[in-house]
Amino acid sequence: MKILILHGPNLNLLGTRETDIYGKLSLDDINSKLGKIAKKHNFEITTNQSNIEGELVNALQDAQKWAVGVVFNPAGYTHTSVALRDTIAAIDIPVIEVHLSNVYGREEFRHKSLISGHCAGKITGFGWRSYLYGLMEIIEINSVKV
Ligand code: DQA
Repeated sequence: MKILILHGPNLNLLGTRETDIYGKLSLDDINSKLGKIAKKHNFEITTNQSNIEGELVNALQDAQKWAVGVVFNPAGYTHTSVALRDTIAAIDIPVIEVHLSNVYGREEFRHKSLISGHCAGKITGFGWRSYLYGLMEIIEINSVKV
């Protein structure tokens, strides 16, 4: 089973971008950690990053054809994008919203997310482990319970 890890704008700069807030790991570091963990649980991840809103819309629409869920950090578009909100509402696979930083401890404009209401859940403030916890939830949702 495949899971999409989707990263929004400026996350390609992780490792050098505001490291006091976002940490020192690069996007490749994070993706590789997630890939190893997914593999241990017999899942596979595909990773994608875009700075372009429409490309994120396309990636989410496309994921519906092949993924069992999405771990999504919409970055700056979290706070502005009606288009991404509409896409998440339109697709029928679970999307978990994740943020490296604790958006509620930062500027007020970051407290508002246009997409949270249509996501299966939201994880914020645990650095790269926000993605890990999102991934574990998608795995859990798709694992056979005993
Ligand atoms: C972010 C938080 C957003 O407010 C910000 O615009 C980002 C990154 C995070 O992962 O903490 O680019 O999504």
